Amino acid sequence: MRDAPVPESRASPLPLAPGALGVGSLGPMLRDPVSFLVRSYQECGPVFRLQVLNRRFVVMAGVEANQWMTRHEREHLQNGPIFGGFGTELGGALFLASADGDEHRRLRTIQTPSYSAAHIEARVPEVVQGLRDRLGALQVGQRLDVQRLFQLILAEQVGLLLHNDGQIAHILDDLIRVFRTALSVEVVRQWPPALLLWPAYRRSKQRILAHASKVAQQHRDHPDAARGDLVDDILAAVARGDTIREENVRLLTLGPLFGGIDTASNTSAFALYNILARPEVRARVMAEVRQVFSAGPSPDWEAFKGMSALRGVMMETLRLFPVAYLASRHVAHGFDFAGHRIEAGQHLFVVTAVPHFLPELYPDPLRFDIDRYGPDRREHARPGAFAPFGTGAHTCLGARFAQSQMMVTLATLLHLLELEIDPPDYQLRVRSNPVTMPEGLAVRVRAVHRMPGQAEVPWPPFRVEPQRSLSARLGLG
Ligand code: HEM
Repeated sequence: MRDAPVPESRASPLPLAPGALGVGSLGPMLRDPVSFLVRSYQECGPVFRLQVLNRRFVVMAGVEANQWMTRHEREHLQNGPIFGGFGTELGGALFLASADGDEHRRLRTIQTPSYSAAHIEARVPEVVQGLRDRLGALQVGQRLDVQRLFQLILAEQVGLLLHNDGQIAHILDDLIRVFRTALSVEVVRQWPPALLLWPAYRRSKQRILAHASKVAQQHRDHPDAARGDLVDDILAAVARGDTIREENVRLLTLGPLFGGIDTASNTSAFALYNILARPEVRARVMAEVRQVFSAGPSPDWEAFKGMSALRGVMMETLRLFPVAYLASRHVAHGFDFAGHRIEAGQHLFVVTAVPHFLPELYPDPLRFDIDRYGPDRREHARPGAFAPFGTGAHTCLGARFAQSQMMVTLATLLHLLELEIDPPDYQLRVRSNPVTMPEGLAVRVRAVHRMPGQAEVPWPPFRVEPQRSLSARLGLG
């Protein structure tokens, strides 16, 4: 709505996705954007126009679009004009999602070691112990909002592993509120800018920025405690005068919490649903869980990584429930794609998840089939066929971290808790706001398996019971 008018493509025979007069494709894009964009691709081809209210986009989709993105993104596309406002709003114009070109390359290089899977894999026993403390304090009969449970435990892990500070619970609602509001106003532009003046939002913003300052200060005060985490890497780059300036430290520190909370929590919530709702999948995963924990209470990564049924669940969940299904970009330099000219100045969506739903790649694509990825089938292996973490220059930096984190967390949770979906006849509802999430998914605790003599660890200040208020349902906190 605040976009400058964009030039029409010179090759105007680009087909237009189905829509209604005046509002364009607003209805289906709100109801079920992924299915709508897959259908539009099947009807219109690999490149088409999309109108939502008075905003116009060019959409690229399909395996070739993903392959193009992998090879050519840097030459033609920019993130700054799309994501820059998010950074400015949070007091640090420089962060990965909004950086382009050489600056982006340098920023990624500085942060790559601390986002790597090795970081979590080396500390798996500590992560398992954290889960024992947190989940062991739940009570039989308690009803849990699955998305919120994962938000808490995954954010605490990110805090512990990347900030050396797992005390996140007291600002978690603030983080979620700020992330969703700033994203919806500044990036997706579906909410009015006046929301950034909302007092509750401003208070939350102050609290999370204060938390980031505190974490950075702890690292400065105790250089001897350096564990090679993200904050160490950021501060070392500031000290060297390498790309990062002092004013960017807070936003870069918050980066993995913004990038990781909604994505990994929602994916884990969908995965837990897929295990609990499918008896044959559940039986195979539980056999692996028993095997992993039969050797002792604190397995290491070697034990988890061989869980092929759980890995299949994760892959199928990432394929069928892609929480970040498109890349939103500014076309900086025009190019040709699939016989069409895409002019500079356009707002482009590359819908990276469309191939996940194509029968020519995944036979019977809507069927949840955890054996698609074994050595005999490898349906995801064709370049561009599987892109839940995006593709190209901005491919998720936390992808391997997230996969290891979700496997360890789900396996340990299934070992410690006996759960059932509540109510048992719950039908999965998927909502995009703008990240995709399972709506109203709750479980009831049937049993908690604590270690003999395990100490009670107090539950932190973050509610995991389902919430009913309208503001909560709107994701406003
Ligand atoms: C299931 C979990 C996750 C999914 C599906 C996911 C998905 C994505 C996608 C699709 C992108 C690319 C966005 C674009 O091209 O515009 C991305 C970027 C990113 N993700 Fe993730 N993500 C997940 C978990 C995480 C976690 C746990 C972290 C941090 C610990 C993380 C950190 C990042 C960062 C820093 C970027 C920006 C990379 C860049 O711009 O160069 N993500 N993620």
